[in-house]
Amino acid sequence: MFISDCLSVNGAGHLTVGGLDTVELAREYGTPLYIMDEEYIRSTCRAYKSALREGFGSDRNVVAYASKAFCCAYMYRILKEEGCGADIVSGGELYTAIKAGFPADRLFFHGNNKTDEELEMALRYQVGRIIVDNREELIRLDSLARKYGKIAQIIFRINPGIDAHTHQFLQTGQIDSKFGVPIETGEAYELIKDSLKYDNLKLAGVHCHIGSQIFDSEPFYLAAKKLMEFVAKIRDELGYEISDIDIGGGFGIKYLPSHDPKTPAENLRAASEAIKKAAAEHRLSIPRVIIEPGRAIVGPAGVTVYKVGSVKEIRNVRTYVSVDGGMSDNPRYALYGSEYEVLSAANADGPRAMLCTVAGKCCESGDIIAKDVLIQKVKPGDFLAVLTTGAYNYSMASNYNRNPRPPVVMVRNGKANVAVKRESYDDLIHNDVF
Ligand SMILES: Cc1ncc(COP(=O)(O)O)c(C=O)c1O
Repeated sequence: MFISDCLSVNGAGHLTVGGLDTVELAREYGTPLYIMDEEYIRSTCRAYKSALREGFGSDRNVVAYASKAFCCAYMYRILKEEGCGADIVSGGELYTAIKAGFPADRLFFHGNNKTDEELEMALRYQVGRIIVDNREELIRLDSLARKYGKIAQIIFRINPGIDAHTHQFLQTGQIDSKFGVPIETGEAYELIKDSLKYDNLKLAGVHCHIGSQIFDSEPFYLAAKKLMEFVAKIRDELGYEISDIDIGGGFGIKYLPSHDPKTPAENLRAASEAIKKAAAEHRLSIPRVIIEPGRAIVGPAGVTVYKVGSVKEIRNVRTYVSVDGGMSDNPRYALYGSEYEVLSAANADGPRAMLCTVAGKCCESGDIIAKDVLIQKVKPGDFLAVLTTGAYNYSMASNYNRNPRPPVVMVRNGKANVAVKRESYDDLIHNDVF
């Protein structure tokens, strides 16, 4: 009945997450409130791990969860316990992981413009792999590694010319990207060839990330095939065998009832076929495969609960339901027009009788959570639940209008654990100089 397995409705008609009543949680922890089902996160990590094992017949492959989707110390603890790796993209994510006791050798450091300080941190903590984006970074990294007497294990971000960011994936003309180096123009090959000359760098692999919220398997097949052909060219022409292939993330999830996501095993099938076929054709050994799902691991696990402040009916125009959060805790409608399912938390399976636009409290007309949605009738004081907010909500939240960021409560085994505390007004002025 609901779009995620984490959700249900109890005898009182209240929405539950991981079996706990969202209305009771909202009363206890206040609103806005992010609630996440820890068991869903853990079981999805396991499902991707076993899909990798099945797809490639080995345990050395890595599920490197994309931290950008949802990052905090609690999440790194889950990942550590589940035997996952993590994709990080900043000194802040790296610092959080290290402070949470996450093993540095399971970190994959991405980013198209890492600063010297961030690269130095990566070298100091000895992160597993640094994903090099461009020539300038390659040169900087080599000289920093020399300064610190280290050998950095690197993976190149390659642009295979496939872009699956839209509903339609495109196979050509998508080399215009701030990320990575294109294969098509020969630049990727030149860069890899040159990288072999640097004494403090060790080439480990190639990587691409072709987009997000992808339901189609063909782009993954083509991307994996292009990476493998490229690996074969490097072996044939440079005599160098690459050990890692990192095919990124992007597996689609169900935000709306019309979305039809694939299982982890189905998501990996296409890439697995492409890699095994290319390995046989080019007589290459099967590389270590790294995947970087972000939203697929945390997105469906999350729900945000708000309190309704006002219901404003503009005759013959629209009804606005205003809630006590908004683009400061979920900027995705404002950024991309992203759509969400919305329910009355206290009447989750009641008839949907109210066509409205759910608006936030920020001083921006574009501060919308969901436009023209049909929900159960609500009035001021009621709780609204916005579903599938586990990814790119907390991690993209801001203090716009000096709204404190909401807390994150993780639900597991019938218990609620605070993973991130609610920010206080004192937190907001912490760095202000008076
Ligand atoms: C390099 C890389 N890997 C993984 C991801 C995760 O994508 P998703 O959350 O859609 O799985 C991203 C997202 O932008 C990315 O840039």
